[in-house]
Amino acid sequence: MERIIVTGGSGFIGSHLVDKLLELNYEVISIDNLITGSKQNLTQHKDNPNFKNIIHDVQDPLELEDIDYIFHLASPASPIDYQNIPIETLLTGSIGTKNILEIAKNNNARFLLASTSETYGDPLEHPQKETYFGNVNPIGPRSCYDEAKRFAEAITMAYHREYNLNVVLARIFNTYGPRMRANDGRVMPNFINQALENEDLTVYGSGSQTRSFCYVDDLVDGLMKLMFSDVSAEVVNLGNPDEYTILETAEKIKEIIGSKSNIIFKEIPEDDPTRRKPDITKAKALLGWEPKIELNIGLKKTIEYFENLK
Ligand SMILES: NC(=O)c1ccc[n+]([C@@H]2O[C@H](COP(=O)([O-])OP(=O)(O)OC[C@H]3O[C@@H](n4cnc5c(N)ncnc54)[C@H](O)[C@@H]3O)[C@@H](O)[C@H]2O)c1
Repeated sequence: MERIIVTGGSGFIGSHLVDKLLELNYEVISIDNLITGSKQNLTQHKDNPNFKNIIHDVQDPLELEDIDYIFHLASPASPIDYQNIPIETLLTGSIGTKNILEIAKNNNARFLLASTSETYGDPLEHPQKETYFGNVNPIGPRSCYDEAKRFAEAITMAYHREYNLNVVLARIFNTYGPRMRANDGRVMPNFINQALENEDLTVYGSGSQTRSFCYVDDLVDGLMKLMFSDVSAEVVNLGNPDEYTILETAEKIKEIIGSKSNIIFKEIPEDDPTRRKPDITKAKALLGWEPKIELNIGLKKTIEYFENLK
């Protein structure tokens, strides 16, 4: 049986990936220090003999044997999280990624890096193709995350060039779904929880900035197609190219919930990207992958999750 490590397995995306891999009968080891993840996300597997949960900070080295594949997701991901712990975010992306690459090297395992659309910064090219080098402010409030991920991409490629490690890189765009934390500051949980409580929905700026939202099941499907393909040493965008303004998104959520909330406007934070939309031509061509779940459907499932938490 093939053994797979998922770092960040207790997080939002990682836990859905663990679910899917166990469903397919892989042996799965999660490595997570629970800094932004939750034990709750994996309790359903606690009696599964194919699952091992290691609570460990990837900033510290770790030795594991008989590993075939590594999905490296461990990293704070929401702006509130990484701006609260900027140094840990930088060290997790740099030293943490190096430590996990060492496990891959020692096992000759295939390594997938979960990178991010934030490597494009506030993009001057739209939509963003993998060939775009980005527009990142190296000293801005988001730089701890953006530059950590850019370093992670660079060291992943360096391990490929120096040790011929079999690597692949996913640049993930905004993803949403059940198991996001209600208070993690990202748009979807913010709006949904405000609307469920009939509180004001806070839009930063005019709300004309756009985002493209990928439902987590589609994203996990993309990560798995990428990992289990023969694509090597390539970076591939994974996200949903359907583009919505923040204001449209707020209105849609209000409408689905039937909420009495008002929409209010606050000052836009520094370095908030104005447009984000993946060009997924490469993912379609190499993997035959594209998102299938429409925003309305994904939103209903996510809203249901947050309703059940109340
Ligand atoms: N959700 C998105 O929209 C999105 C977009 C782009 C990229 N990503 C990337 O996908 C990955 C998962 O994101 P998510 O949304 O599930 O975030 P998340 O915060 O829910 O999950 C990240 C997990 O990593 C763990 N972690 C953080 N630092 C660690 C460390 N030093 N050692 C061990 N574990 C550590 C956390 O405890 C958490 O469980 C991240 O790498 C993120 O950068 C996510």
